[in-house]
This record gives sequence, C-alpha cells and structure tokens, in this order.
Amino acid sequence: MTETPTVLITGASSGIGAAYAERFARRGHDLVLVARNKARLEALSARLHEETGVTVDILQADVTNSDELAVVETRLRDDHRIGILVNNAGASLGGTFADQAANDVAQLIALNATAVARLASAVAPRFIKAGSGAIVNVSSVVGLAPEFGMSVYGATKAFVTFLSQGLSLELGPKGIYVQAVLPAATRTELWELVGIDVNTLPAVMEVGELVDAALAGFDRREGVTIPPLHDPAQWEAYHAARQTMIPGFAQVRAAERYRTAQ
Ligand SMILES: NC(=O)c1ccc[n+]([C@@H]2O[C@H](COP(=O)([O-])OP(=O)(O)OC[C@H]3O[C@@H](n4cnc5c(N)ncnc54)[C@H](OP(=O)(O)O)[C@@H]3O)[C@@H](O)[C@H]2O)c1
Repeated sequence: MTETPTVLITGASSGIGAAYAERFARRGHDLVLVARNKARLEALSARLHEETGVTVDILQADVTNSDELAVVETRLRDDHRIGILVNNAGASLGGTFADQAANDVAQLIALNATAVARLASAVAPRFIKAGSGAIVNVSSVVGLAPEFGMSVYGATKAFVTFLSQGLSLELGPKGIYVQAVLPAATRTELWELVGIDVNTLPAVMEVGELVDAALAGFDRREGVTIPPLHDPAQWEAYHAARQTMIPGFAQVRAAERYRTAQ
C-alpha cells in the first residue's frame, strides 16, 4: 500500500462527505468520490484537483442499486491504492414509523446499513492481506437514543456503530483501523431532504468543525468518535456498564423473575 493511500468516500457530493473529501485532499490523499449526483462530483473533483493537485476520480453510483453498488465493491477489491474507505453516504426519513412507507424503510436500510456492510466486506480481505487500511463509518448519536423518535434511522445507525465496534475487534489485530463517527445535528442538506428547517434545531454543528473533530479522532485511532460529546467519561461509563453484563449472559437457567410456576 502506498504511503499516502487513496481515500474512497461515499456520499461525497455534499455535506459531511464533501468536507471529508476536502480535508483528505488537503492532506495530500488522492480520492475516489462516490454519489449519485455526477455534476456535483465533477465540480468538487475539478476544484479539489485545482486547489491541491491530488488526483480525484469520480464514481457515479446509487449504492442502494445492487449493480451500481457492485461497481464500487469491485473498485474497493481491485484498486490497491485505496487504503481508506469512508462509508458516509446516508439519509434520514421524515415522519413517524406509522407514517413511513415500508418501501422507504427498506430503502433507508439499504442505504444506511446494507451498503455500509457490503462496502466494508468488499475491502476488508484486501486490507487484511496488506496488514493495513482504515474504515471510517459515519454513524450518528441517534443510534444511542431511541428517545429521539427516529426509530428506523436510529436503528440503522445503531447497526453502523455496532458493526464498527465489532470490526474493530476483529480487524484491529490484523492492522486495520475501524472508526465509527457519531455526529449530532450538523448543518447539511440531510435535514432539508426530510422537510426540517435546520435553523429550528436547538444546536447545530458546522460541517467543517464536525469533520475536523472526526479527523482528530481518526489521527488518534479512536474506535468511536463523538464530536459533540464534551465529557468523554460519559461514554466510558456507558461502555463499562454494558461490559459488566457480558460475563453474566451465559446461563443454563432463565432469570428468577421469568420463571413462572412450572
Ligand atoms: N447532518 C446531520 O445532522 C447528521 C447527523 C448524524 C449523522 N449524519 C450522517 O452523515 C452522513 C452524511 O450525511 P450529510 O449530513 O452530509 O447529508 P447530505 O448532505 O444529504 O449528504 C448525503 C450524501 O449521501 C449521498 N447519497 C444519498 N443517497 C445515496 C445513494 N442512494 N447512493 C449514493 N450516495 C447517496 C448524497 O449524494 P447524492 O444525492 O449525490 O447521491 C450525499 O453526498 C449520513 O450517513 C448521515 O446519516 C448526519
């Protein structure tokens, strides 16, 4: 793998993905930018090449379309220059669960969960062989908070965080770094796309601040980076509380409270 690996970023045509593209270009990484909007990708590619001199390829793909996703998977499998995958493409869904059409729910899961796992799966064997590589998965604090009332979106993000933590345990010893990034509300088009005026939210982070913080976590090789969480002890306490349960899961008998009269 080259010293400055190429970075493949999904959802690079706007918002967080476009900011990642800009930051990695400024760090001297060549890029492969993936999204559906070709005109936007071309404009970003031309600007970043002009400003930084790096090579920026674009791959127009809808990652919920299995044929188009396969093209991205093939690129990840075959292009040995790619050493960092940023799994960022994602969307939310407006309304309550009862209002959401089943097809829209399935589409969201295909985008936010299935594509993330498939792209990680495509690149992992090559990274294992190389003994290096990084996978960054853009998740969300919503995946920690069913209270926010965004059940399907939050469930996809809980999946992304869990997948990242599991892959970190599996692939970390093989030299691969896996990071989950959990933004809270960030000023991007995601909100407008689900009919919410971002300016009505109580606190919104600017996208540059979010990505710079995520990259600070990346540089420290953090497994889970939560840019808006000011007190890291809260995450550590949450993690520790979960871990205390694990040794108790292996049991022959059900817990006393579930044993009905037999
Ligand atoms: N903004 C927030 O408050 C916030 C908070 C937590 C987490 N996040 C996460 O951050 C990530 C980036 O979102 P964002 O906030 O930057 O929103 P955004 O500006 O709407 O960007 C989403 C990106 O995903 C791409 N995308 C959407 N559907 C796609 C598809 N089917 N195939 C390929 N690309 C697709 C979009 O490009 P095209 O339309 O050109 O395909 C766009 O580049 C998402 O995973 C989101 O869940 C955002």
